[in-house]
Amino acid sequence: MERNDDVLLTEYDKSLRPKRLADYVGQKEIKEMLNIYIKAAIKREETLDHVLLYGPPGLGKTTLANIIANEMGANWHSVSAPSIDRVGDLAAILSSLDAGDVLFIDEIHRLPKVVEEVLYSAMEDYSIDIVVGKDSTASTIKLDLPPFTLIGATTRCGDLSAPLRDRFGIVEQLDYYSVDDLQNIVKRTAKIFNYKIDEDSSYEIAKRSRGTPRIANRLFRRVRDFAQFLDEDASSIHLDVTRLSLKKQNIDEEGLNQTDYKYLNAIIDLFNGGPVGLNALSASISEDPITLEDVYEPYLLQNGFIIRTPRGRMVTDKAYKHLGKKDESRLF
Ligand SMILES: Nc1ncnc2c1ncn2[C@@H]1O[C@H](COP(=O)(O)OP(=O)(O)O)[C@@H](O)[C@H]1O
Ligand SMILES: [Mg+2]
Repeated sequence: MERNDDVLLTEYDKSLRPKRLADYVGQKEIKEMLNIYIKAAIKREETLDHVLLYGPPGLGKTTLANIIANEMGANWHSVSAPSIDRVGDLAAILSSLDAGDVLFIDEIHRLPKVVEEVLYSAMEDYSIDIVVGKDSTASTIKLDLPPFTLIGATTRCGDLSAPLRDRFGIVEQLDYYSVDDLQNIVKRTAKIFNYKIDEDSSYEIAKRSRGTPRIANRLFRRVRDFAQFLDEDASSIHLDVTRLSLKKQNIDEEGLNQTDYKYLNAIIDLFNGGPVGLNALSASISEDPITLEDVYEPYLLQNGFIIRTPRGRMVTDKAYKHLGKKDESRLF
């Protein structure tokens, strides 16, 4: 599963991004609140307070940030935290902002500490102190900034330092989407690409998308490939081709894929069902621990396939059943 790779976005992905709050499917409460904050700020002719969006990858953080800028009628600047190495990088970005602009910082938990500290005063007082020169000739210059809105996105709110978190006036957590919402997203995507999709097929895709719009769109794309491959002028998608495609992609009816299976099987077969630490587990299946923790585990946890204990991860009875395995440790 890919991470936040906006650089690699194709035109296809861009055209799928809803542009207005009204077109953003689901997340009802968040939309309601943001709508109030945005309208109020516009009425006061002020910039919107800084916004922090957090939640697992693919749930629509970048999309929502974009929508906020659109709704505010603001210019959009976007950077990824790992690309800001030094204070100078941040100062350059901040000094290019005009009044009312939106600055989006993706993966904001990955800002270096020194950069983060400069951001505090930028957020709070719209000014930063920059050190020029070295050692005995060093002096600080105060740089005033226009009022702007910072929108931060992160998959790991817990990794954000408290002082940074506290400087966001608006903090919203994005949650996994319901099957209903995902079905609407699949239908919307199909419509954008001039495909007819029957009710059962959009439901089937939605159900296996692990609560995630990005996955729903990806599964739709693969199903569309199958439809097109099997029938040259297929402009409609039916259940048989949908099922076939999902089966060939090894996505099961709970949306679990091969990595999930590898993960669960390893805990059961190699670690007796757990508890096992993340690093031991990730080494045994050759997967990056951060990807496991950010991308795979939240869904497995949410759906009761695993639990996390102080001593590590354990699989649940549901996982044993789902994999058709017996809990050997309980036989005696
Ligand atoms: N609420 C939504 N309604 C419709 N499409 C959505 C929604 N949220 C996300 N998407 C789709 O899912 C894709 C991934 O969303 P993105 O904003 O990149 O997620 P994140 O930044 O949280 O990783 C987008 O390309 C967009 O098309
Ligand atoms: Mg993103």
